[in-house]
Amino acid sequence: MVTKQPKSAPSVRANTGQLVQPLDQWHRPFRDLRISLTDKCNFRCTYCMPREVFGADYQFMPQRELLTLEEIERVAIQCVALGVRKIRLTGGEPLLRKNIEQLISRLALLRTPEGEPVELALTTNGTLLASKAKVLKEAGLHRVTVSLDALEDVRFTHLSDSNVTVQTVLQGIDEAAAVGLAPVKVNMVVRKGLNDDQILPMARYFRHSGHILRFIEYMDVGSSNNWNWDEVITGQEIVGRIGAEFALEQVDAHYRGEVAARWRYKDGGGEIGVITSVSQPFCGDCTRIRLSPEGQLYLCLFASQGYDLRAMIRGGSTDSQLAAYIHGVWSNRRDRYSEQRGTEQVARPKIEMSYIGG
Ligand code: GTP
Ligand code: 5AD
Ligand code: SF4
Ligand code: SF4
Repeated sequence: MVTKQPKSAPSVRANTGQLVQPLDQWHRPFRDLRISLTDKCNFRCTYCMPREVFGADYQFMPQRELLTLEEIERVAIQCVALGVRKIRLTGGEPLLRKNIEQLISRLALLRTPEGEPVELALTTNGTLLASKAKVLKEAGLHRVTVSLDALEDVRFTHLSDSNVTVQTVLQGIDEAAAVGLAPVKVNMVVRKGLNDDQILPMARYFRHSGHILRFIEYMDVGSSNNWNWDEVITGQEIVGRIGAEFALEQVDAHYRGEVAARWRYKDGGGEIGVITSVSQPFCGDCTRIRLSPEGQLYLCLFASQGYDLRAMIRGGSTDSQLAAYIHGVWSNRRDRYSEQRGTEQVARPKIEMSYIGG
């Protein structure tokens, strides 16, 4: 693998032979691949990797268990041939994965069957972004989304259970925008009583910045965060609070299935988004699949079980066998957890957000 692509590098167009792009059991197309590159993170956000569970003796995955960058690229090529138009790199914290820029430079060569480049984005906690933004951009990354749950240092270090300052993350955001990884999106998970007083300071700070602030309803992902309905502040309430200070109007989605509902400040201060997976689920338009660090394919963010692609890859499957398998997995898909939330009779284990990356 090489870090920088020479201008003349050939693009990679996959071919799955006779396979057509699949629709699942609810007629949803296969469009987004979210690749988790590591289960490690340098934060211990209380809702994601609480230190009581992810302490000093927590066993993260050994290196040999992880898919190699070449293996990840192989899966990505097949997924693009089957319909994927956007690839998002996540974690844990994806910038902790060694040589990530080499993977990005390979993914940047991918072309859809129509010959278009694939959109390449990354979700990060921003701690390493100021130093890495330029290299990521040069490797071919298009955009970044940065998680930031508060603007006050005391609150932020408490929520992330780290010593990192807010300023470090803000510098990462600014550097990303400066090198052209724009527009930068900023994700704030809102929890009642813990950081909802930060909604307005965050809105004020990011108005007129060119960055897009998105508020995420606190979700019942994983099994280690003791989620509780009482901690959810709905998107409607968030828009209401901000709208009381700055007039807002709704904006149409960029594309069918966009996760965030968009709003803009009437005075031209930019736009915000709300992600209402709890109060207004969007499973009907879910086009996402997830690849875990060790090569399990998961359909839903709330899934209990994945499909073992690593066993196929390391067992010698051909590209067309891989493509046919992924095609079958998507074609049989029926899940729509958020729409069925609360209807399950028996609690079941769910994958952790820190492992699958949202
Ligand atoms: P862009 O529109 O390309 O910026 O992508 P995005 O909005 O999917 O970006 P991002 O990865 O930042 O997603 C934002 C958040 O929405 C995630 O962190 C999750 O909390 C939530 N989310 C994303 N996809 C899903 C999904 O399929 N189901 C549910 N329930 N929540 C999701
Ligand atoms: N509910 C909503 N969003 C969450 N995230 C992590 N855990 C949750 C949760 N329980 C967000 C992170 C990050 C993205 C990957 O997912 O803050 O922005
Ligand atoms: Fe790390 Fe993101 Fe989880 Fe926080 S939410 S612990 S930054 S993976
Ligand atoms: Fe898709 Fe599952 Fe999220 Fe619904 S809950 S939008 S099916 S990932």
